[in-house]
Amino acid sequence: MTLGVVETDTVIEALAGARERTLELVADLSDAEVEAVHSPLMSPLAWDLAHIAAYEDLWLAHRFAGRPLLREDLAAVYDAFETPRAARGDVELLDRPQAEAYLEEVRARTLEVVTERGSGDGTLFELVVRHEHQHRETMLQTIALAGLDAGPAWTPALAACDGTGLEPVDVPAGRCEIGAPDEGFAYDNERPRQILDLPAFRIGRTPVTNAAWQAWRGAAVDEPVDPDEPVVHVDWSQADAFARAHGARLPTEQEWEKAATAGLLDFVGEVWEWTASEFTGYPGFQAFPYREYSEVFFDRGYRVLRGASWATDRRVRSPHFRNWDLPQRRQIFAGLRLAWDA
Ligand code: AVJ
Ligand code: FE
Repeated sequence: MTLGVVETDTVIEALAGARERTLELVADLSDAEVEAVHSPLMSPLAWDLAHIAAYEDLWLAHRFAGRPLLREDLAAVYDAFETPRAARGDVELLDRPQAEAYLEEVRARTLEVVTERGSGDGTLFELVVRHEHQHRETMLQTIALAGLDAGPAWTPALAACDGTGLEPVDVPAGRCEIGAPDEGFAYDNERPRQILDLPAFRIGRTPVTNAAWQAWRGAAVDEPVDPDEPVVHVDWSQADAFARAHGARLPTEQEWEKAATAGLLDFVGEVWEWTASEFTGYPGFQAFPYREYSEVFFDRGYRVLRGASWATDRRVRSPHFRNWDLPQRRQIFAGLRLAWDA
């Protein structure tokens, strides 16, 4: 199916928008800062840049349009599984100017492809655009962890909550739809949509704030923080312990989604919110477009985070979105919301 001019323009605009933000993020950083390994948990920023290029080339020029890869020689190094984060400091990587040139060359081919063939049903293009936005949040985690200064546009800006996180709202028992609808773009792990009948529960109207956290166990991070902002950079075990110490628990991801789609949660989108749920496939799950996107992480001890953080692009935000990470990780912009049995 060839898309009309307007839709092709929309795709090109979305690609350009993501790229503009990515380049802005690194604009004020030195080549050395972009190329350095700052933590074994994270990639050098230059790896993320070239990985964004490699992913775009793989899914658009190669898989969508059937062209050979632009740089077959780089495929393994910039594949997240063949070269995992901890190994990215030990292999030879493109330097920053080379990574930026690679991004540009790939993008030029993408534009040829979209002009020649349209964007099909748009799914792979949307995947690629969102992939770049998601990596920008990952790069921001690296920047925060390393204490780099990417400029004022990239400093965390969290809302002050009008609660501490200890105030519950009631969610009545009853049926709800969990997961993305059949229409429109969604990640494979958000489908198929299920109808669930959940018992009544209570959930925090706001995320847990620094004030509530510090009253319990002191500061979560070294920097001075606003007491009314959501606590951030806590790991799952700390979040779970906080909940138990307050006679509460973490919500399941289904409870979170039910409350969020009913409009009961305030201050969603400030920090990722740890849930009690382990990352697994919904009944009837089918991998798309590749098993390594989600499926290989199922049932391996990853915990689901819901919502979004201040660093998450609007385009990637959805009440159905499932983020995941290991319970000991603190580099993500993650806090928590409490839940209670009714
Ligand atoms: C959904 C954020 C867990 O970073 O591993 C990036 C997103 N997938 N490249 C991740 C992703 C492939 C993913 N998370
Ligand atoms: Fe990726």
